[in-house]
Amino acid sequence: MDEKIDKKLFIQTLGCQMNDTDSQHIIAELKQHKNYTTTDNIEDADLIIINTCSVREKPVSKLFSEIGQFNVKKKEGAKIGVCGCTASHLGKDIMKRAPYVDFVLGARNISKIKDVVDTKGAVEIDIDYDDSTYQFASTSTSLYKTSVNISVGCDKECTYCIVPATRGDEISIPPEMIIEQVKKDVARGAKEVTLLGQNVNSYGRRFSDKREKTTFTKLLQEVSKIDGLERIRFTSPHPLHMDDEFIEEFAKNPKISKCIHMPLQSGSTQILKAMRRGYTKEWFLNRAKKIREMVPDVRITTDIIVAFPGETEEDFEDTIDVIKQVKFDQIFNFKYSPRPNTAALELKDLEIADEIGSARLTEVIELHKVHQTELMESNIGNTVTVLFDNLRPNGEVSGYTDNFCQVFVKGSDELLGKFIDVKVTSATRTALKGEVVK
Ligand code: 5AD
Ligand code: SF4
Repeated sequence: MDEKIDKKLFIQTLGCQMNDTDSQHIIAELKQHKNYTTTDNIEDADLIIINTCSVREKPVSKLFSEIGQFNVKKKEGAKIGVCGCTASHLGKDIMKRAPYVDFVLGARNISKIKDVVDTKGAVEIDIDYDDSTYQFASTSTSLYKTSVNISVGCDKECTYCIVPATRGDEISIPPEMIIEQVKKDVARGAKEVTLLGQNVNSYGRRFSDKREKTTFTKLLQEVSKIDGLERIRFTSPHPLHMDDEFIEEFAKNPKISKCIHMPLQSGSTQILKAMRRGYTKEWFLNRAKKIREMVPDVRITTDIIVAFPGETEEDFEDTIDVIKQVKFDQIFNFKYSPRPNTAALELKDLEIADEIGSARLTEVIELHKVHQTELMESNIGNTVTVLFDNLRPNGEVSGYTDNFCQVFVKGSDELLGKFIDVKVTSATRTALKGEVVK
């Protein structure tokens, strides 16, 4: 009976885009099966969920103070659930530290949300997988953009990274399930899809059944055949798997957005080896050069970790050198953070003093600001094509160019969902402003 009553869900999402998509699945499943609708007001909520990230230590330590706050603010009888990577990693220990938590649901167990939500004390964190665990009720987020997971887990063994321990072995989702999902979203009005995975371009090596292997390049070709789909994005690819075939498809397929994430992590071959990234400084530079040659207006983004254990001044200079040579459009910077269940913990004796880590981080940030300003200002006076997707309360409409640069213009909802030419009139480090070309 209780299931007929409309209930409110407050959900907070931390971490990566895969978590965003998982949260959308949670919302859709709880709506379809349990009549939940979302609320931004925690005090109204019957169910409070935090979808967590464990990649760095800070978000994990913040988790307990955050759920403590939820427990104070929640209305009587409201439940609290902890989902995502920290749920996978800490499991029932979360309830030991915070006994008011009602259920814990791992990153790989999201499809069980409808089962655990009414079971006080439920903990679902095992990392088994079959394709049925990846079927969800339809989401109803942004009309023009959608995202679809193409694989779960990660088979790499980057020595700093907790993800393989929380999300498990890498398994690709069958191409026909991906295509069906994208077609459904396109029928709802989506024009752009983002294909998501921890390591998207190693797609197709292992499925849950005994089917033939395939490649990410082939998947891109299949997805781009979908009528009505106009733009394909993907994240995160691994520089090691950026072979010529992949780069050529990226360059010549007009539906593929010309923005690519190339997570460098370090510019030093020595440190890359200690990180077990599988490539050298030269390989990375060679791939970036080939991409720039084949796609002159490409935007390249990256992730950098400074102060990995044993990183010398010389190693750090190699990172600075790669940044200077590639000139990234966006850098996500991190100071190394030791994580449980990772091989880098064995390098404890080589850990770098925090002040040195902070100084290196600042150097990367300052250098990047110079590049960002230069790269963004080079757009002024150009005409760019924008898919508008967001009407803002101040009378502006925003969207993204094909190479994923955010653009703002004055305008109305008439622009939404359309590809429109815009003349760029000004630039900040993170966005462009312009006027619609009549
Ligand atoms: N310390 C710092 N940064 C990390 N990342 C992953 N693990 C760690 C860690 N232990 C960063 C990497 C990765 C991004 C998602 O998070 O740069 O690409
Ligand atoms: Fe972590 Fe490396 Fe896998 Fe990325 S590729 S999720 S950094 S182990």
